[in-house]
Amino acid sequence: MKFIAPRGTKDILPEEACNWNKIEEISRTLFMIYGYEEIRTPIFEELALFARSLGETSDVVQKQMLNLEKEGLALRPEGTASVVRAYLEHSIDKKQSNLAKLFYIGPMFRGERPQKGRLRQFHQIGVEVLGPDSSSPYLDAEVIALSIHLLNTFGLKDFKLKINSLGDKQDKINLSAWLRENLQKKRKDLCGDCQERFERNILRVLDCRNLACQEIIKDLKGFGLSNPKSKEYFKNVQEALKDIGVSFEVDPFLVRGLDYYTQVVFEISSESESLGSQNALGAGGRYNTLIQDLGGGEKLGGLGFALGVERILLALKENPVIKEKSLLYYFVALDEDSLKVIFKRMNDLRQVMSKKGPINKNLLSGYKISPIKNQMSLANKINARFVVIVGENERKEGVVTIKDMETRNQQKKSWKEFEDMFTLQLMQERA
Ligand code: HAM
Repeated sequence: MKFIAPRGTKDILPEEACNWNKIEEISRTLFMIYGYEEIRTPIFEELALFARSLGETSDVVQKQMLNLEKEGLALRPEGTASVVRAYLEHSIDKKQSNLAKLFYIGPMFRGERPQKGRLRQFHQIGVEVLGPDSSSPYLDAEVIALSIHLLNTFGLKDFKLKINSLGDKQDKINLSAWLRENLQKKRKDLCGDCQERFERNILRVLDCRNLACQEIIKDLKGFGLSNPKSKEYFKNVQEALKDIGVSFEVDPFLVRGLDYYTQVVFEISSESESLGSQNALGAGGRYNTLIQDLGGGEKLGGLGFALGVERILLALKENPVIKEKSLLYYFVALDEDSLKVIFKRMNDLRQVMSKKGPINKNLLSGYKISPIKNQMSLANKINARFVVIVGENERKEGVVTIKDMETRNQQKKSWKEFEDMFTLQLMQERA
């Protein structure tokens, strides 16, 4: 069965994504310079919100609202299946003889009962490596190491990596048969969900969080891979991880909740108090048969992982990322004519700044004249580092009064001197 992108949607492939990034980077720079801050709202809302705001009888509400169920569509719950679908739809498997290494960052949706760390719209940072002959323990180890490297670089400390191997398709069938046989007698003591899983997907019983089920599983002896090839592969992945200093624990009961996994699977859980029971920061593994299941060639394999951004941020609450403070210049006009001057000069400065690439400075001003006391206290409140004041006297002299809010120093400079100082600061920042 061949899948294609839903009608009216488009994949952004690596060769186009760089243009998207450029546009996003430029926009972010300009928004920063103009003093805008980012807000992100959920992709879905209560229908009534739109009916009330846009109008019950508006065409958008009446005819254009996308009814997913009616259209046979679903908001994506994860990224792997879509990436594999796009890989096949765009024949990347045929165009590229080497491995395609792809990453994604974006919202995912699951209709779960929300709780701390479990949302209905959340965000993942993920990678997928797809291609012919992708099976190499070095690649598995590199992908796992990348997920750890990311978490370390984000500043996370207390987390644990668990790995396991489910073997190939036949190994999974054998493991399931072994479990069915060995759990048969205890079947009635399993939780309701696990009793249902017994026939359809018994491996999931292994990662059930129900205490009664965990007690039963604890007593299982002799569960594990028997296929020497799969065992050897898993051993080599572990060796490769050790070689590059990645610590891990082998958990023979780690199975992961998604059917597509074969061979090595892994999960990284946080030990931070702030996450509670939803402590998986990220997870991944190999899915050598998924590509064929979605219509791809037999030799193609893949693997990847996804990290949950919200959970990472929750865990970081204990070691917060220090927000880089931008240098804010606040312009204060003392009369209408000065406001006009400031309006024009700020525009010129922003044009210069935007040509310098990403910079950590922004320019703000009020848009109406108000007493200087009020304007200074606002500047203080928004953490302006410099206040640039223009009034009748400054205009007559062709200068600005610059107040450094940190040192409390105040000095007068010509516009030219001020602009030179500003440009010099920009250059120093770039260096
Ligand atoms: P997953 O384990 O379902 O795997 O999700 C990966 C991560 O997304 C989780 O460890 C968690 O941090 C975050 N996450 C999942 N559900 C929620 C939720 N409801 N609220 C907040 N965060 C959540 C996958 O999605 C696979 N596609 C990973 C993968 C990529 N395997 C191979 N390639």
